[in-house]
Order: sequence, then structure tokens, then C-alpha cells
Amino acid sequence: MNILLIGFMGCGKTTLGKKLAMKMDLNFIDLDEMIAEVEQMSIPELFKCKGEKYFRALETEWLSRFDGEGYVISLGGGSPCFNENMKLINSIGTSVYLQMNSDLLRDRLLDSKQKRPLIEAFKNDKTKLALEIDKLLKGREGFYNKANIIFEASNMSDTKLDCLVKLVM
Ligand code: S3P
Repeated sequence: MNILLIGFMGCGKTTLGKKLAMKMDLNFIDLDEMIAEVEQMSIPELFKCKGEKYFRALETEWLSRFDGEGYVISLGGGSPCFNENMKLINSIGTSVYLQMNSDLLRDRLLDSKQKRPLIEAFKNDKTKLALEIDKLLKGREGFYNKANIIFEASNMSDTKLDCLVKLVM
């Protein structure tokens, strides 16, 4: 069994992925961390030095080569939206879209210390950040909605995590 978590930046894919893996006794992989490790570069550095297209090709290459069993995999927010990756994602295992409204995403991203190249320029202006999130989310929801399970991910609690475990089993 493999479970792949998808959703917009800041929706909690990594945090929830680790908890889910622990609860279900599965291994955990964060695709961004994997790529950063292999490339010996942080994701912002990778975007800056090699460009987004290079990063997207790495995501697709990794997904097309993955043949593991027994993993929870947290993907980057853009992974499902390029190179027909949703087909690859759904062939690897059960995909879960962690859905969250744009106001909450904005607040969580403003609070986050993690550097994200696509939104870094907007982080000092709440209104511009909100507009950018809306724009990106509109373009991405069609891909996210191809997930096997759509799970509303705000206010995560132990009970809600248990619900998710039941849904993916
Ligand atoms: C991206 C999301 C990031 C990371 C990269 C691009 C995106 O991952 O892959 O900065 O296009 O939404 P998180 O969703 O974990 O922030």
C-alpha cells in the first residue's frame, strides 16, 4: 500500500504525512526533501540556479521511477499539475487531496518560515499573497480533484487523522 498526499503549499502535507505514516506503520518520504538531498541544494536554490522546468522534470522522473511499497509520500504543491503527473501519482497508490480554503492557506503561509520560491515575492503583502494563492489554486484544483480521496484538512485532530486512516485503508 502507498498513500500520496497532494495539495496546495502550506496545507500540511509533510506534517500530516509523518503522522499518517507513524499511525499506519508505513515509511515516509517527502519528495521535496528527497530532491534537495539528491541535488545537494535547497528547493529555493534549485529554482534559482537550475529553474522551475528542471525541478518539474525531477519531480516527474522520480514519480515515474518509484516502485516502492508501504510508503506515505508527501508531494510538492505543484507536483500533480505538471507533465500529466496525476496519472503517475494514481498509478503508485491512493492519492489524497488535502483540501483547505485560500484564506487559511494564506494565514498558514504567512506564519511559515519555510522559503517557497513561487510565493516568496508576495509574502510581505497580504493582499497580493491572497491574490496569488487564489490564482494558483484556481489553476491547480482541476488536477488536485483527480485524487482518489478529497479530505478537508483544516483543524486536524487525532480524531480527524483516524478518519483519514479509515478512508485510505
Ligand atoms: C511548490 C511547492 C513546494 C515545492 C516548490 C514548488 C509548488 O512544496 O515543491 O516550492 O509549486 O506549489 P510544498 O507544497 O511542500 O510547499
